[in-house]
Amino acid sequence: MSAPFEPGERALLIDDRGRRFLVRLQPGGTFHFHGGAVPHDLVLGSEEGTVVHSTTGAALWCLRPRLADFVLKMPRGAQVIYPKDIGAILVEADIGPGNRVLEAGTGSGALSIALCRATGPEGKVVSYELRADFHQRATANLEGFFGKVPAWLDLRLGDVREVAGTGERFDRVVLDLPEPWAVLPDVGASLSSGGILCTYLPTVNQVQEAVLAMRAAGYEEVDTLEVLVRFWHVTERSVRPDHRMVAHTGFVTVGRKAYAEP
Ligand SMILES: C[S@@+](CC[C@H](N)C(=O)[O-])C[C@H]1O[C@@H](n2cnc3c(N)ncnc32)[C@H](O)[C@@H]1O
Repeated sequence: MSAPFEPGERALLIDDRGRRFLVRLQPGGTFHFHGGAVPHDLVLGSEEGTVVHSTTGAALWCLRPRLADFVLKMPRGAQVIYPKDIGAILVEADIGPGNRVLEAGTGSGALSIALCRATGPEGKVVSYELRADFHQRATANLEGFFGKVPAWLDLRLGDVREVAGTGERFDRVVLDLPEPWAVLPDVGASLSSGGILCTYLPTVNQVQEAVLAMRAAGYEEVDTLEVLVRFWHVTERSVRPDHRMVAHTGFVTVGRKAYAEP
C-alpha cells in the first residue's frame, strides 16, 4: 500500500472543490475532466498523497480509493449497498476472519468486496446472482478492487436456492434480494446452528414478512435496524450538519438459527 502507483491500479483523484474521480491508471493514458487533462504518467510512479496539475493548472490530489470510495464510484448493474449499511451488516452479522459466508444476490459486488475483506483468505465467500449481466459486472468490479477475483470468493451464476443441493455449510448468510422469505428454507438448511442470517430490505412491509418468516422458521434474537448518517460541515465560522443527507436506504435484519434435532 505504501508503494508508488502502478499501471492497472485505480487512483482516486480529488479536485480543490472535493469532486472525486476514480481513474484506472494506464501508461500513456489521459484523464479528462472540467479542469483540463491529466496524463496518467504524472500519477504513475508517484507516491500516494501526491498533488498533480492538469494542462490548465488545476490541482488534483492522488489517493488510493477506500472501499467506500470504490463502491460509490464503481460501475453499477444492480443498486449497491451503501457503505454505512455495509458497516452495519459486517458488525451486526458478526462477519470476521475465517467465516464461511453465503451471499445473494451478488448484484454489483459491493457487499461481496466487503465480505471478502472481512473473512480474509482463511474464510470463504460464496455469492449467487441470477442475472448473467450482473454476475459479469460484479466479477469486473471485484477484479477492479482486488486486482483479481480473490481465491476465497466463489461467484456463482444461478439461484441461491441451488445451494441446498451442494451440501455446503455456512456460518453466515447475507441476503440482499427482494423476497428472502422465498429462499429461506433452502438457504437456512445450509446455515450452521447458531449461525447468523442477515437480510437487507428497502421497505417495512418486506421487513415484516421476512421477520415473521424467520421467527416461524425458528430463528431467535431477530433484530431490525436502520442506519442514519449525517455528515457535518465544520469551519472556523460555523459548525452544522450538512444540508443534505441520504435519508433512506434499507433495513438490516439479523437473526440466529436455533439448534434443531437432526
Ligand atoms: C439489490 S441487488 C444486490 C446488490 C448487492 N448487494 C451489492 O451490494 O452490489 C439484488 C440482486 O439479487 C439478485 N437476485 C434476486 N433473487 C435472487 C436469487 N433467488 N438468487 C440469486 N440472486 C438473486 C438480483 O438479480 C439482483 O442482482
